[in-house]
Amino acid sequence: MNIDIQLFTPAKVGNLELPNRIVMAPMTRNRTGDRGIPDELNAEYYAQRSTAGLIITEGTYPHPTSRAYTGQPGIYTDEQVAGWRLVTNAVHQAGGRIFLQIHHAGRISHPSLLPDGILPVAPSAVRPKGEVHIPSGKDKYPTPRALELKEIPQVVEMFRNATERAVEAGFDGVELHGANGYLPHSFLSSLTNLRTDEYGGSVENRSRFFLEVVKAMVSVRGGQYVGVKVSPWKFLPHDIEETDTQVIYPYLAQQLSDLDLAYLHIQLPMVTFGNQPNAPFDLAKLIRPHFKGVMMVDGSLDKEAAIARLEAGDADLVAFGRAFLANPDLPQRLRENAALNEVDYNTFYTPGANGYTDYPMLQSLLTLARKE
Ligand SMILES: Cc1cc2nc3c(=O)[nH]c(=O)nc-3n(C[C@H](O)[C@H](O)[C@H](O)COP(=O)(O)O)c2cc1C
Repeated sequence: MNIDIQLFTPAKVGNLELPNRIVMAPMTRNRTGDRGIPDELNAEYYAQRSTAGLIITEGTYPHPTSRAYTGQPGIYTDEQVAGWRLVTNAVHQAGGRIFLQIHHAGRISHPSLLPDGILPVAPSAVRPKGEVHIPSGKDKYPTPRALELKEIPQVVEMFRNATERAVEAGFDGVELHGANGYLPHSFLSSLTNLRTDEYGGSVENRSRFFLEVVKAMVSVRGGQYVGVKVSPWKFLPHDIEETDTQVIYPYLAQQLSDLDLAYLHIQLPMVTFGNQPNAPFDLAKLIRPHFKGVMMVDGSLDKEAAIARLEAGDADLVAFGRAFLANPDLPQRLRENAALNEVDYNTFYTPGANGYTDYPMLQSLLTLARKE
C-alpha cells in the first residue's frame, strides 16, 4: 500500500476538509504566563505546525477553579479570548485548522494553583498518589473536595461557556479532554468515583457527568463542532485505573455516537511515557465497533504504526504528540521519509522560545547544508 495514499488522503471532520490524516495531538506547554493569555509566541508555535490535517491545542482551563498548571492557558476572560484570536488567525492564515482542547483539572491540581487557595474538586474525596508541580516547587496532591450534587450543573456550564468562548476566538471546533485522570475521566472510574447518587455506581451513572458535559458543548454549535478524547484503562502518572474498561467505553462510545460528533480520539497506552505498560486488549479495536463516526488514535505511533492503524480500519485519523512538538513540518518529513528532530524533554514546560518555536524545519536544514 502506498503510504501517501494512507496518510495523505483528505478526510472530512465535522464541517472541515482535512488535506491529510496527520493530526497534532494536544500538548500542554505552559507558556502563557500566570493569567493564561496566549500571545504572539504561541501563535507562531501553532502556525509553524499548520500543515497538520488538524491541530488540537494544549489543554485549556474553562474556569479559574479548574486550572492544572502554572502557565496553562485559559478560555474565560476577554483577554484570553483575544490571545487565542492571535493563534487562530495565524493558523488560518498559514492554511491550517485548529480545535481548542477544554480541560478541567479535577483532582490533578493544588490549592496554590486555584483562587483563594481552594481545594481541587472531584467526584469523590480520593487523593491521587504522587506529586504535583506548583509555583514554589513540588508538593503531594491534596485530597480533593467531592462536588456536591447541586454544584454539578455549574461545572457542566463551564464547558458550555468555554465552547462559546472558543467560537468567539475563531476556533474550528473544540475537544473535550476526557482523558488522563482529569475531571471527566475521574467520574468514569469506580476507583475515583465513589458516589452513591445518580453520578456514581452503575456504568450509566458514572458516564452521566461525561455525557452531560459533551451535550453542553454540542449545544453551542452542534456535534460537528465537538471532538472527545479518552484514555481508557489506566494512566499511572495521574493515579487512575479502571476496573471495567471493556464495559464502560463501549457504552460511552454508543452514547457519543448519537451526538454526531466531529470525532472520538483515543489515547492508547504509551510504553515510553509515564511507564505505562501495554493494555491487555487493543483499545482502538474495543471501541471502534461501537462508535459510528470518525475515530482518531495516538500514543507512541511512528509512521509504520500509524499506517497500520489506518490500514486495519482501527482509525481514520492518526495523531502525533512528541513527534509534532519536535518537528513543525512533520507531514512533509513523513511524506519524504526524512529523519526526525530529536525531542528535548527538558523544554516541554519551560518558558520562552527555546524548545518551542526553534525546532528546525527541513527546509532550513537543507539551506544550511547547501551553504556548508
Ligand atoms: C508535553 C506533552 C504534553 C501533553 N499535554 C496533553 C494535553 O494537554 N492534553 C491531552 O489530551 N494530552 C496531552 N498529552 C498527550 C498527547 O496528546 C498524546 O496523547 C501523547 O503524547 C501520545 O502521543 P505521542 O506518543 O505521539 O507523543 C501531552 C503529551 C506531551 C508529550
